[in-house]
Amino acid sequence: MKIAVVGTGYVGLVTGTCLAETGNDVTCVDINEEKVEKMNRGQIPIYEPGLETLFYRNIAQRRLDFTSNLADAIKDAKIIFLALPTPPGDDGSADLSYVLGAAKDIAGLITDYKVVVTKSTVPVGTADKVTAVFRANTSVEVDVVSNPEFLREGVAVEDFMKPDRVVVGTRSERARKLMEELYGPYVRSGNPIIFMDERSSELTKYAANSFLATKITFMNEVANLCELVGADVDMVRRGIGADARIGKRFLFPGVGYGGSCFPKDVQALAKSASEVNYDFSILNSVMSVNEKQKVVIVEKMRRYYKGDLKGKKFAMWGLAFKPETDDIREAPALYIIDELLKEGAEIVAYDPEAMENVKRLKGDTIKYAADAYEAVQGADALIIVTEWSLFRTPDFDRIEAGLKSRVIFDGRNLYDLQKMIDCGYYYNSIGRKTIEN
Ligand code: UDX
Repeated sequence: MKIAVVGTGYVGLVTGTCLAETGNDVTCVDINEEKVEKMNRGQIPIYEPGLETLFYRNIAQRRLDFTSNLADAIKDAKIIFLALPTPPGDDGSADLSYVLGAAKDIAGLITDYKVVVTKSTVPVGTADKVTAVFRANTSVEVDVVSNPEFLREGVAVEDFMKPDRVVVGTRSERARKLMEELYGPYVRSGNPIIFMDERSSELTKYAANSFLATKITFMNEVANLCELVGADVDMVRRGIGADARIGKRFLFPGVGYGGSCFPKDVQALAKSASEVNYDFSILNSVMSVNEKQKVVIVEKMRRYYKGDLKGKKFAMWGLAFKPETDDIREAPALYIIDELLKEGAEIVAYDPEAMENVKRLKGDTIKYAADAYEAVQGADALIIVTEWSLFRTPDFDRIEAGLKSRVIFDGRNLYDLQKMIDCGYYYNSIGRKTIEN
């Protein structure tokens, strides 16, 4: 099938590439000409495991190409995906100007029936707004379909190729058939394509992400309580996760959720609710607890150093909001850095992928190390913020040789408590006993 994808950000690029992989003919369009040119030369603008192979293969086999010309991209396309940014406005509601603007441009160009799919996370009622733009600007028949993405960064290719489910919001039989044909190859293992109306589909995305953010936040609160009552959150997590109704996944306490989706979506859902005079109060709690959780580790450090962090040097392992990505949007590391710098501390950071992005934002207010062990040289303590695999089984002798004193603040509970006792560390993690040594 001939497909156009408008917007080559994270979602657009993964969607376009993965749709080409099953034999579709995909053209991705972006207004940034320099980016388009680079992609046509085979340069991939984001880091996402597994994407490169598919990207090169589909470009080489001419199933995937890039253009900055919208008319060329959509000319023969049966389905047009809109994967455009919907940044939060000042009041927290999603800004739809890119989506509605693209709809208007497309309306001015089309001459035959199209299915236009909103892939970006958009507030309830957006499909109706996009439909209204088409009705006002063209007499050509268009079905606007909501098809939210559930891609996790770091495993986005796998999530796209083998989704737990595909949600499609449309009441048009014609659009439904095309979407069924398109997604058929991805759900061959039997996972469902769930068809529903557009509004339910739009809300599904927000509800899913807000539920997951709430689940994490609940565990963060349980962890904080564990520390006060002398319980171990790892045990509690296993104890409750074994109940199939709760489930084992997304129960890991840490430094708060970040990234491009959860913070934005929780905020947007709370805002949508308030617009219809519904006080979705649990979401307000989730947001305020998460704000505090992002700097819980700094609180622990303040306590340990009796409020005096001035002149202390800290090694920070991990900057990305989670492993296997270079994404630092809403990354807790940024909040921790700001707090520590405010206190007059010095930071030497190491992250396998995200250092360039942090450099762009924070410049040389912090230092960057070439590897994890260089970061700990001469540091007063090690702070762990992102659970990259390489931090899980480090060489503790090398850490010890580098650090001024054996002190670790671990925001991701990477190490076994007994191991920390044996190695003689002061070890403060989340929701577990502090090893004083
Ligand atoms: C999320 C959703 O999972 C995905 O379905 C949606 O489409 C986009 O948003 P992503 O932001 O890539 O994906 O990351 P995810 O792996 O879900 O993690 C989000 C945040 O929660 C991270 O900051 C992570 O560290 C945190 N997290 C996750 C926890 O603190 N504990 C957990 O148990 C799981």
